Amino acid sequence: MSNNTNNSTTAPPPPGPDVERRTAVVATAIVGGAGVAALAVPYVASWGPTDGAKAAGAPVDVDISGIPPGTMRIVKWRGKPVWILHRTPEMIRVLHQDTAALADPDSKRQNYPTPPYVMKDPALRSIRPDFLVVIGICTHLGCSPNGPFPAGVKAALGPWPGFLCPCHGSTFDLAGRVFKNKPAADNLAVPPYRFLDEHTIRIGEAPVHA
Ligand code: FES
Repeated sequence: MSNNTNNSTTAPPPPGPDVERRTAVVATAIVGGAGVAALAVPYVASWGPTDGAKAAGAPVDVDISGIPPGTMRIVKWRGKPVWILHRTPEMIRVLHQDTAALADPDSKRQNYPTPPYVMKDPALRSIRPDFLVVIGICTHLGCSPNGPFPAGVKAALGPWPGFLCPCHGSTFDLAGRVFKNKPAADNLAVPPYRFLDEHTIRIGEAPVHA
């Protein structure tokens, strides 16, 4: 059974004994122009599934129409943060630049196999160029990286936009690919997902004809 986040609101849930069970933290991060730090604006959204359903891996449907270009939403699936980044044309352009700084630009390593249905363009690692969907857990020791940061904001990222793990400094580009010479060796994992329609992503199910 799937769950739909279309009814997510910014209003906090009423207090009660089952608040924790029925809510999940969703965050939106905004990437501005060069020199502007990423913003993280957490809010609490209504959440349908029980703990049992979530633990069992029930798919989660996400309305992506409310994610402005350049921003990211985080949803919870199987207890993990799943990032949905709405990439701008500029973000996509940067991903096609020189990949010499990346450890595994074509996602060939198999510790976290990248599904073939997101490998039409290895630089993007996504079904649609404009939406990246990855599990936001660092492949080194499991911290959750921060970001996305624009180019020039974090020294650890050098000239690139991307994500920075606060634990040991691994950095990832806007396709979740890890940079060289960092503690993490693997790109961020891609969960199974597919588009139900133009505005809805189902996390937890691969495309029917993948
Ligand atoms: S857990 Fe991310 S760099 Fe170590």
